[in-house]
Amino acid sequence: MKIFNLRKQMGDFCLQIDRMELAPGVVHGLVGSNGCGKSTLSKLIMGILTPDGGRIDYEGLTPRDLTMTSQKPYLLHDTVYQNLIYPLKVRGIRPDEAEADAWLARCGLEGKKNQYARSLSSGEQQKLSFIRALIFHPSFIIVDETMSNLDPDSTELFEEMILEQQRIRPVTWLIISHQLIHIRRLCGCVHFMEKGRQIAQGTPEEILLYPQHPAIRSFLASTEVFYRDPEAPGAGKAAAGREEEPERPAGNGRDGER
Ligand SMILES: Nc1ncnc2c1ncn2[C@@H]1O[C@H](COP(=O)(O)OP(=O)(O)OP(=O)(O)O)[C@@H](O)[C@H]1O
Ligand SMILES: [Mg+2]
Repeated sequence: MKIFNLRKQMGDFCLQIDRMELAPGVVHGLVGSNGCGKSTLSKLIMGILTPDGGRIDYEGLTPRDLTMTSQKPYLLHDTVYQNLIYPLKVRGIRPDEAEADAWLARCGLEGKKNQYARSLSSGEQQKLSFIRALIFHPSFIIVDETMSNLDPDSTELFEEMILEQQRIRPVTWLIISHQLIHIRRLCGCVHFMEKGRQIAQGTPEEILLYPQHPAIRSFLASTEVFYRDPEAPGAGKAAAGREEEPERPAGNGRDGER
């Protein structure tokens, strides 16, 4: 997907993406401060908002190939199972109940198949919304802060599911998260936004370990950056308690690392 001169005014806020490329089959991370325009950009990509100007080249993807999950998922007033198969129904695909059961089992929801979906805990709702996004085999998936509320086991499960998907059939992901450790583990490419603009794009190392842009250095200095190299240019005070870099599982779409 390629984005050209995309513009959207929302009150005082103006999103202006001169150029952004979301290479197919790669896990992309979208990072930046609160209010910098990440969710606005996601909604423009999904067609939920209409741009004031510019163009998105979907490179053959249609709205049926795209999906998005958010931190507060919208669930139908229905059972867990009916919510799960909803994307299939709207696309005219006959649900395979055994496959649906396998998805539920994968994230520990098998005993809750017939439960009213809105009575699930918030973490369970996020899991349901995540597998609901995957069940119709989309080609482009936006994950807007869906992992923010999860316990460590569930976070690990999400990461595993994303990387497993990439091993089986690589799709394009745009993962928005303030938890940079996820971005570091998962992403092949990171896009950094500030005040409605993309100010840098590169590998997680380039953007999160050795940032050139002063705005990124200042963002990192005030964020969760305990894994950073204290010798790195721009490493702030928070870098002092550095952990070893976690081993990166294969399949995040980086050249030579699949
Ligand atoms: N309908 C609207 N009217 C006016 N301003 C809006 C509207 N929707 C969003 N905005 C503003 O647009 C800016 C970008 O919002 P957006 O939700 O895209 O930020 P974000 O990067 O996703 O932030 P966060 O990390 O907090 O989720 C914010 O300043 C927000 O207040
Ligand atoms: Mg947002």
